[in-house]
Amino acid sequence: MGIDGPECSRIVAGFWRLKHWGISGSTLLDFVHACLDMGVSTLDHADVYGDYTSEQVFGEAVAGGGARIQDSLRSRMQLVTKCGICLQHSHTRPGIDHQHYNTDREYIIGAAEASLENLRTDFIDVLLIHRPDVLMDADETAAAFEKLHSDGKVRFFGVSNFTPSQLSLLQSRLPFPLVTNQIELSVMHIEPLHDGTLDQCQERRIAPMAWSPLAGGRLFSDQNEQAQRLRRVLSEIGQETGGHTLEQVALAWLLRHPSGIFPVTGTGKSERIRSAADALAISLSREQWFRIWSASTGTGVP
Ligand SMILES: NC(=O)c1ccc[n+]([C@@H]2O[C@H](COP(=O)([O-])OP(=O)(O)OC[C@H]3O[C@@H](n4cnc5c(N)ncnc54)[C@H](OP(=O)(O)O)[C@@H]3O)[C@@H](O)[C@H]2O)c1
Repeated sequence: MGIDGPECSRIVAGFWRLKHWGISGSTLLDFVHACLDMGVSTLDHADVYGDYTSEQVFGEAVAGGGARIQDSLRSRMQLVTKCGICLQHSHTRPGIDHQHYNTDREYIIGAAEASLENLRTDFIDVLLIHRPDVLMDADETAAAFEKLHSDGKVRFFGVSNFTPSQLSLLQSRLPFPLVTNQIELSVMHIEPLHDGTLDQCQERRIAPMAWSPLAGGRLFSDQNEQAQRLRRVLSEIGQETGGHTLEQVALAWLLRHPSGIFPVTGTGKSERIRSAADALAISLSREQWFRIWSASTGTGVP
């Protein structure tokens, strides 16, 4: 991922919805093993998921009661997590009445250390700033990254939901390259293709990670014209490519982009992880790719 970045799986498993899956302990451990066995070894977290509880639920399950995840298991996975959002009215961290962001040096270091504890690991593979903070002092944020890196607590860094100029600003203060910008991107949300975000990733060889790559499930449930057009065209192309499902074609559409997108799935079902991993085998022609673009925009290609 990125220049000299970590070896990550092209399909990433996201844990935002872990609380809603309602699984923990051995069931969650089984799901993690299933992901790893399918080659989906990069696991995406954030400190705020599950109202600041999901990292801990994950860490407890994967460490199996131990103080730390066993080395033999830890070496099979890459842990991505995020910090910087201070949730209002949190049940687990009360006292914040107005939601805000914090990218100050001490805050980031403290948040990363809390994630290390909760995930039961000695290092985070990739730490992201979760959302752009208009009060970000790039020198401070970079100083936090350098400290966490030199202490061996975080190996690589990235951002999430950053505009190209926000990313350039932070990069200008860092001695090492950011490896990713994790952004919302799917057949139903194609703005990053056209607003310079993916251009910058390709220019700087930063890997984009696509969150909600199936539009958070709306690809299957929305009844608007865009969703209906997309379901029809994706299904047609699924047949043309040898009997693939529409969600596999939606992922293949992201994978086809030259910036090297890493889709971050949100399912808690191992059979759907398998289906996503199988999308890696689909190769879309340019014509098929642009038919999906047209189904998304509702326009012909100019
Ligand atoms: N950086 C950020 O700001 C940010 C923001 C949001 C998310 N994320 C990351 O991105 C990850 C993915 O986001 P997401 O959960 O929105 O991704 P998604 O994969 O677009 O959506 C997942 C949802 O779609 C459903 N789904 C999947 N396949 C389906 C199918 N064939 N038919 C019907 N429903 C289906 C899933 O239900 P089932 O569980 O039943 O399969 C789940 O509810 C998160 O876990 C998180 O790690 C990051």
